[in-house]
Amino acid sequence: MQMDLKIAAQAVREKAYAPYSNFKVGAALRASDGAIYVGCNVENVAYPEGTCAEAGAIAAMIAAGARAITEAYVIADSPDPVPPCGGCRQKLAEFAAADVPVTLATTDGQERQTTVGNLLPGAFGAGHMDRS
Ligand code: THU
Repeated sequence: MQMDLKIAAQAVREKAYAPYSNFKVGAALRASDGAIYVGCNVENVAYPEGTCAEAGAIAAMIAAGARAITEAYVIADSPDPVPPCGGCRQKLAEFAAADVPVTLATTDGQERQTTVGNLLPGAFGAGHMDRS
């Protein structure tokens, strides 16, 4: 993992809008175009309308015209590296191969390395609709 991805995730985390949970999350994705796309969580007073950091980063990547994630980094101020929520695992899997590395981190420097495939074993994919 190159430092630029970590620095990007740290920086965007500071911009998170999380007045309800006070839990700021930053996500940085490297894409196949070589660029880094970032996102932070954006909460809403109508709680279910809030969006996760990973979703924001994916939206930025797609809006820029990139389609494939090659590496991901997620950081939060948690006691141990907080894994992405279930929905974000599926969102990452839409644009990342199973072997794409994901680093989960805490603001105090802990890091855990995993992959998109390990985060979402048995993922639902397009092949499951083949008979429809
Ligand atoms: N959150 C993320 O942004 N990404 C995750 O992977 C876990 C959770 C956000 C959503 C909400 O704004 C806050 O963290 C608390 O759940």
